[in-house]
Amino acid sequence: SLNAGLQLILPGEVAPSHRHSQSALRFIIEGTGAYTAVDGERAYMTQGDLILTPPMTWHDHGSEGDGPTVWLDGLDIPIIQTFDASFLEGFQEESQPSTRPPGDSHARYGRNMRPLDASLTNTSSPVFSYPYEDYREALEKMRVQEEWDTCHGLKLTFINPQTGGPVMPTIAAFVQLLPKEFSTAPYRSTDGTIYTVVEGVGHAHVGDKEFQLTPRDIFVVPSWCPFRLDAEEDLVLFSFSDRSAQEKLCLWREQRGNDGDTK
Ligand SMILES: [Fe+2]
Repeated sequence: SLNAGLQLILPGEVAPSHRHSQSALRFIIEGTGAYTAVDGERAYMTQGDLILTPPMTWHDHGSEGDGPTVWLDGLDIPIIQTFDASFLEGFQEESQPSTRPPGDSHARYGRNMRPLDASLTNTSSPVFSYPYEDYREALEKMRVQEEWDTCHGLKLTFINPQTGGPVMPTIAAFVQLLPKEFSTAPYRSTDGTIYTVVEGVGHAHVGDKEFQLTPRDIFVVPSWCPFRLDAEEDLVLFSFSDRSAQEKLCLWREQRGNDGDTK
């Protein structure tokens, strides 16, 4: 239902402005100085940042950095193909003009407030950049309470602040922290999930296969495939899936542990 890929942008390169009915996210793997512009606002990239390009938002990418920037792309192309609802338009110029300063959407919607008369009709998050330093600090503060979920450790989902729901209509995104020597209980769910390691080392057990995990590794847990994690050091994982779409279609299910407790 989703595509995952790696995209590399070199200093001075520009990916021309366009928009489409597919939802997309970028998770920055390495590099600084590149940006994504979304509807007139640029978000500059740092490793670990999550950047959204919601459906039909104008977007382009460029790099003002000194070296290559690499990100993990996530798109819902197969879902939109299934619905036969694909639209793509090019912008009249290579780069769209900046009409809002960097950080504008975060100032308006990213601090548990919103402009007084803003409409709440947008089905995607108006905050399109989630900086790593923000959510990493949140995980570090939460860990003091030691409220570890047996299947997930500490896990947060990125939200659309207008709804409290997933960031985009079809794609949900998550980050989790497992402390050193934590092992999760077996878990499976119907949303096949793409993971990347942000920090730490450990092992992923996916079905009957075991994978060593080190930073920047990418792996997939297929739908309804038993899955567990072992952290050798503090382990931070970013992940995304089609859970947002599955919940709307009343398809999403999970099974926690080996007790057969499915909901
Ligand atoms: Fe695009």
